Amino acid sequence: MHTISAHALQAVTRLVARRMGSTDAEAAEVADHLVRANLAGHDSHGVGMLPRYVQLLRDGLLVPNQTPLTVLDSGALLVIDARRGYGPRMAADAVRRAIGRAQELGACVLALRNSSHIGRIGTYAELASAAGCAFTAFVNVADHHNIQTTWQAAEPRLGTNPFCAAVPGADGPAVLLDMATTTIAAGKARVAYNKGVPVPDGCLIDAAGNPTNDPAGFIRDHTGALKAFGMHKGSGLAVMCEVMAAVAGGQGAFHTARGGILNSMLATVIDLSKLGDPAAIARGVESVKAHVKSACPAPGYDEVLVPGEPERRAAAKRMQQGIEVDDITWREIRAAAESLGITAAEFDQAAGADYSKLQVG
Ligand SMILES: NC(=O)c1ccc[n+]([C@@H]2O[C@H](COP(=O)([O-])OP(=O)(O)OC[C@H]3O[C@@H](n4cnc5c(N)ncnc54)[C@H](O)[C@@H]3O)[C@@H](O)[C@H]2O)c1
Repeated sequence: MHTISAHALQAVTRLVARRMGSTDAEAAEVADHLVRANLAGHDSHGVGMLPRYVQLLRDGLLVPNQTPLTVLDSGALLVIDARRGYGPRMAADAVRRAIGRAQELGACVLALRNSSHIGRIGTYAELASAAGCAFTAFVNVADHHNIQTTWQAAEPRLGTNPFCAAVPGADGPAVLLDMATTTIAAGKARVAYNKGVPVPDGCLIDAAGNPTNDPAGFIRDHTGALKAFGMHKGSGLAVMCEVMAAVAGGQGAFHTARGGILNSMLATVIDLSKLGDPAAIARGVESVKAHVKSACPAPGYDEVLVPGEPERRAAAKRMQQGIEVDDITWREIRAAAESLGITAAEFDQAAGADYSKLQVG
């Protein structure tokens, strides 16, 4: 295991993204996105995605510095085709446009299509929250094979289709729900596999449809599937992500994307200052948080949390103590960098003094 500072991870990510062909600005956006995901505790969507991004580039399925196509720009409706552009920049730029439009008109509905992997959806909710806006997103994931089994199904038919909603509170941070509609995000099975640990009970089935805790088949052989969370309800939300983001949003390609991962997102951004008194809304959000947290914890727990709290706590801790990257993931990142012609010396220099200082084990 390596413990690496956020700063050092950003430098390494920027170096790799630059060598993939991105401009400095795009590389910085990608690095910021991936490292913020690590900071939030979602290693599934952090720097461990870099080897996959390099492979997508090599397969011609990720386009650095892409100019997105505005398909529709009509008042409160924005439809943007990312044309397989680098997801973290495509989605952040699209959400920034939607925030601007919401600040003019009160609200904006954004349909983003055909983006290469957009990563942690909560990052876009945080952009909206920082601008005083509420945010919701239905997201579709199209990959080269289906990986989510819906309720009562023994075979996968969907991707991990995340849903996200956030409203800013009085102290800035939002109540922020950001989740895959599978019991765990697919990347969490990858992280477990790389660490050599089992996934939790009830998350995964094997090729024969039997429950398993071993992520090897799923990650290495692409067999088996992740289960939808919450029985028929989570499964229903996954189906709604499919139809809202991919069908209503107009992507047209739904569950599978030949050879590479594509996201589409149907998001709403609402400027709370246009909806009512933002200070009163923020006070209301704080009072809901306090009310929920005032419940007596169930046996085995010492407190009740609200959505978004685990990520904020993880970020505060990891900012101070560094981010743990398992050895296999670190080696995969180094190999991906090397495949782009980055020398070991360049890599280590980017990782810098912080890296050597914090590296353990
Ligand atoms: N781009 C894509 O294709 C894609 C696909 C799937 C998932 N994702 C991302 O994967 C990430 C991980 O998803 P996940 O479903 O594994 O997340 P998760 O299960 O760790 O967390 C889901 C939500 O539950 C909340 N939560 C967690 N523990 C809690 C507790 N004890 N009390 C109250 N709330 C709690 C979190 O704040 C979060 O909002 C997300 O950031 C998501 O956007 C992206």
